[in-house]
Amino acid sequence: MKIISPKEILLYFTFLISMVSFAQNKSDRELILIDKYWRFSFGHLYDTQKDFGHAEGYFSYLAKTGFADGPAAPGFDDRAWRKLDLPHDWAVEQSFSEKASFSHGFKAAGKGFPEKSIGWYRKKIAIEKSDQGKIISLKFDGVFRNSKVFFNGHFLGTEESGYNGFEYDVTAYVNYGGENTIVVRADASMEEGWFYEGAGIYRHVYLQKTNPLYVIQNGTYVTSEIQDNNAEVTAEVTIENKGKYKGAIEILQTITDASGKQVASISENAVAPDFYKTAKYTSKIKVNNPLLWDLDAPNLYRLFTQIKQEGKIIDSYESNFGIRSIKFDPEKGFFLNGKSIKLKGTNNHQDHAGIGTALPDELQYYRIKKLKEMGSNAYRCSHNPPTPELLDACDQLGMLVIDETRLMGINEYHLNDLKRLIERDRNHPSIFCWSVGNEEWNIEGGIVGERITNIMQGFSKSIDPTRPVTVGISSGFKSGISSVVEIMGYNYMGNGDIDAHRNEFKNQPGMGTEEGSTFATRGIYFTDDSKHYQSAYDKKPRPTFYSIEEGWKFYASRPYLAGMFIWTGFDYRGEPTPYGWPSVTSYFGMMDVCGFPKDNVFYLKSWWANEPVLHLMPHWNWSGMEGKEIDVWVHSNCDEVELFLNKKSLGKKKMEQYGHLEWKVKYTPGTLEAIGYKNGKKILTEVQKTTGNPEVIKLSVDKENPSNAIVSVITVEVTDKKGLHVPTANDQITFSISGGKILGVGNGDPTSLEKDIFLDDTNLVPITDFEERKSVSVDNANQSALEDANGWKPAFKDRDYKNQASAYIYRGKFELKNNLQSNIVDFFYKKIGVNESVFVNGNLINASTDDPQKYHLDKAVLKEGTNFITIRASPLQKVKDWDVMNTDPGIIKVVTPSESWKRKLFNGYAQIIVQKNEKAGEVTLSASAKGLQTGTVVIK
Ligand code: GAL
Repeated sequence: MKIISPKEILLYFTFLISMVSFAQNKSDRELILIDKYWRFSFGHLYDTQKDFGHAEGYFSYLAKTGFADGPAAPGFDDRAWRKLDLPHDWAVEQSFSEKASFSHGFKAAGKGFPEKSIGWYRKKIAIEKSDQGKIISLKFDGVFRNSKVFFNGHFLGTEESGYNGFEYDVTAYVNYGGENTIVVRADASMEEGWFYEGAGIYRHVYLQKTNPLYVIQNGTYVTSEIQDNNAEVTAEVTIENKGKYKGAIEILQTITDASGKQVASISENAVAPDFYKTAKYTSKIKVNNPLLWDLDAPNLYRLFTQIKQEGKIIDSYESNFGIRSIKFDPEKGFFLNGKSIKLKGTNNHQDHAGIGTALPDELQYYRIKKLKEMGSNAYRCSHNPPTPELLDACDQLGMLVIDETRLMGINEYHLNDLKRLIERDRNHPSIFCWSVGNEEWNIEGGIVGERITNIMQGFSKSIDPTRPVTVGISSGFKSGISSVVEIMGYNYMGNGDIDAHRNEFKNQPGMGTEEGSTFATRGIYFTDDSKHYQSAYDKKPRPTFYSIEEGWKFYASRPYLAGMFIWTGFDYRGEPTPYGWPSVTSYFGMMDVCGFPKDNVFYLKSWWANEPVLHLMPHWNWSGMEGKEIDVWVHSNCDEVELFLNKKSLGKKKMEQYGHLEWKVKYTPGTLEAIGYKNGKKILTEVQKTTGNPEVIKLSVDKENPSNAIVSVITVEVTDKKGLHVPTANDQITFSISGGKILGVGNGDPTSLEKDIFLDDTNLVPITDFEERKSVSVDNANQSALEDANGWKPAFKDRDYKNQASAYIYRGKFELKNNLQSNIVDFFYKKIGVNESVFVNGNLINASTDDPQKYHLDKAVLKEGTNFITIRASPLQKVKDWDVMNTDPGIIKVVTPSESWKRKLFNGYAQIIVQKNEKAGEVTLSASAKGLQTGTVVIK
């Protein structure tokens, strides 16, 4: 097995850079990442007042174009909202609650939490005058979920899926040469999956500019056929004409290899499609002696599609692809490039420790590399379309992929999702199979399942005939979906008789789409239900499920089965089976939520990877268990292993193929040592030593971290004074950082209810009971007018704008939960008059120098509980009768800075994910704990 070296990664980035410059020289097309500088606030699921009055207007945004109101209106004042960068998952930022969703990891957000189920995002962007005439669109890689998007107050559409990408053309609404406002309202009140799904804009967002004759979204489809040493590449491109182009055009298709060198090119003559029509053009391009995409050598090519008219390039579009062949054989399993490959797969959800579903791209590479290191060669995106960067990582690192849609059905909702998934992903060489469903218990065994599968299968073939279709099936392997699906997806040996099914359906290839579902807690060797601990020895978890070893022995011994996908590679939030609260993550993973290996990783590595493995478990810190028997297991692919305790041999044992070795050892502190032999020769030694107490904190950059990454994964551990890792340490560590920020912390403990993210607490406090009385002038000296009890009425009620007083005094209340020294309190005033002066609890407040409509409120003028605010101002005058005047005085923002980032170690480890500041040369992370020597790491 080959792990990508930093040099290769560097080469790949050079490839990317060369590609980008190739493109930039030749095209007007721009794809601009707009993840930075968004404003965010929670709204409310059903209380429109708490949803900033959205959709309360007399004419709704569905009644009149451009009538989006509340936060969806361009002029909405969002100065008090939190600033953040995408990707963002608001669910992971919340605390845990027993009342929250079991399947979503008990995060107090989404379903059942109406005040944490609606997220509003706003962003302003400038679009230049020179962009006039271009097609301007917004591209979202995925928003969880049910998002509505507005642009300059125009409603663009609703996207229900929390997983599919979508794009909106905003050309007609653009304010050229000025400011434009993008607003997204995400509604995570409903769950799509039975696993943690996050909430909000958790994937990238782009602004795209093209000429009006352009390659549509996901508009190329590149396939290849290999004959002898050559490949015939078929490049299909779909273009649309949203402008006045007419007549002859030229379509130029150029293929470059990984070094950026042109390997083939072809030009076709065509005719521009009519206004708002699309047209498809297909070119056949020969590539001689192609470097095939393979697991160990994931060679990629790039197709540059250019549209020209009268010699001028109108659009250019880039598509990564790979040249490879795939085949399923009902007798012999799966073949990649004609070579038989046993699929050694894992299922995975998309979340990671600390950061939920908002994974920086680097984390996708980190996770795929961890799986490859275990010897895995295949990944099932269970049970939803993944983010595009996951697929890029699989393409670049050499990992086969089953790409899965969310829901079975034959209507627009289902088929359109499937279509968009396939059209988005079909150029990825890593994808070898589409999955159109998983464990659809209601229908899988019957005629309805059969009908739906026939349609979805045929439908996916109509979009991509080059890949087969599977469904993960669990309830019996006999009828319904099982009888018609192209590649049988067995979910668990315990759910039926796999051999019997295969004997009945001899022409149907099959694979284990799910196997395992075993329970293990990393670093735990005794099951203790009172602590929700599952021992990490591989074991049969439930009567109808099997151990990892039983599973692999079954699949490895049947050539007709293409392989198996373990449930799961990594632990994930939610589904903490066999427990419930306060367990919040799953126990199924071969690795924990951070990617720290449980011992089963080494069972798999022994039989999946190509390198010699010797792993000895458990650790040897069993103080208090002296003289008691401990199960000692060895995972290895050596022929024989001899075990020693304090230099005394406990016997040499022969390793059975796909097995493991066991000893019962009476505990004495010291050194447990395993020696592995191959062909009679000692090749590996592994020790577990009893350690001293924790003394020193050690921080290290994970070895899978790319050297030039902005985001780094840091391992936190403690050692004894001899430098030995202490496997039982559970110290709480406090972190500090300079030159960057911390994105999240985790430790792999399924029962940890510690914070994942330490965030300043932002509270928007409304001004209530807002009243007014008339005044002759704005008189700051006359304090008695503030206390005057007479003449007050609700502010702006029945205001006769034609006969206003020359000045008004307004007063209202706001409540403060506390008046902490560390609070930062500001009043964001919205104009209800001119020449205003503002008082809080009788004290005149000066406007800020940076923003004349912002008033910083010092602790000295505030108190816990009810506070009074008074505003004196001359009224605003209507210009036209129908002018709508602002009656909202603004909002108080209270920010309570977060405490320091901290996390307990769990059985010796924690993980911290850090992001370098753009301008900083390096990041320094320090970790301290009472009684331990501080650890520091510098990331250049
Ligand atoms: C399967 C299901 C998975 C997961 C797993 C847990 O039935 O497909 O999504 O829930 O069970 O054992």
